[in-house]
Amino acid sequence: MVDTRVDLCGITIDNPVIPASGTFGYGYEFAELYDINCLGTFSFKGTTLDPRFGNDTPRIAECPSGMLNAVGLQNPGVNDVIREELPKLERVFHKPVMANVSGFSTDEYAEVVKRLDRSAMSDMIGWYEINISCPNVHGGGMSFGTDPKMAAEVVKAVRWMTDKPIIMKLSPNVTDVTEIARACETEGADGISLINTLMGMRFDLRTGKPLLANVTGGLSGPAVFPVALRMVYQTAKAVNIPVIGIGGVSSAEDVLEMMMAGATAVEVGAANLVDPYASRNIVRDLPAVMKKYGIDSF
Ligand SMILES: Cc1cc2nc3c(=O)[nH]c(=O)nc-3n(C[C@H](O)[C@H](O)[C@H](O)COP(=O)(O)O)c2cc1C
Repeated sequence: MVDTRVDLCGITIDNPVIPASGTFGYGYEFAELYDINCLGTFSFKGTTLDPRFGNDTPRIAECPSGMLNAVGLQNPGVNDVIREELPKLERVFHKPVMANVSGFSTDEYAEVVKRLDRSAMSDMIGWYEINISCPNVHGGGMSFGTDPKMAAEVVKAVRWMTDKPIIMKLSPNVTDVTEIARACETEGADGISLINTLMGMRFDLRTGKPLLANVTGGLSGPAVFPVALRMVYQTAKAVNIPVIGIGGVSSAEDVLEMMMAGATAVEVGAANLVDPYASRNIVRDLPAVMKKYGIDSF
């Protein structure tokens, strides 16, 4: 028997498979398809202080081996998440969930974490994943994740608001991701997750205009897997806190490769949009694939 368990910032999870933020909603929709308690955990949709409708459409464009998205952090806002979404999730998910938090200012990140942490639903939350890497919004998101000083400021601000583990989600749209990871570690982050999407664009040949209303979007899916692996490898060597590998993972073999690069756990994004059972299938396949490669445990 292989042992798929991993320790993620002091919390043991049954396996390292975690659906990524923005590709799994608030979880309960997927619970209509299968028992989501088979997952290690999942990261819920990036949540901001106020409700957001996101960007204009079209905001998704398919590409060979992946997709571009410019959703722009559509979410009902933190109060509604506490009042409506988390109670629905509580009925179907009995493990700690990862709360993905987004913002347009350091104060916003801190306030969202504060409201979640002091809410009646706080016990459901195992980790905060702080998204400082969204490429699809203006005046926030990625601007924090491309500057070590600003990234550190966000860590400092949210660190005051919670004793739970803080995982900083980093952008690949930088020259040296290790510098930003180290700045987060120094300021007290408990973990790093990466990568968010890579900035890209496409044109409509008939109109000569960009396919996405937002002009640019974030590339994800199998196309980004080697880039993600390289950045996870570099980051895991640069810091002493756990690293969650994200980017193009769509099979149990991909999970093993991420673990070999130094990941402690792995998030699965676009694959959930191609096949809603993708994360469940990876969990199902993982023990046999570990056995095949002579891996007893992580
Ligand atoms: C439609 C869509 C929405 C996303 N929304 C968020 C979000 O709200 N917060 C976040 O941190 N990442 C978000 N992401 C990024 C993913 O969590 C993940 O980091 C990225 O897609 C790379 O993984 P993948 O190649 O497996 O998709 C989103 C990705 C997609 C495709």
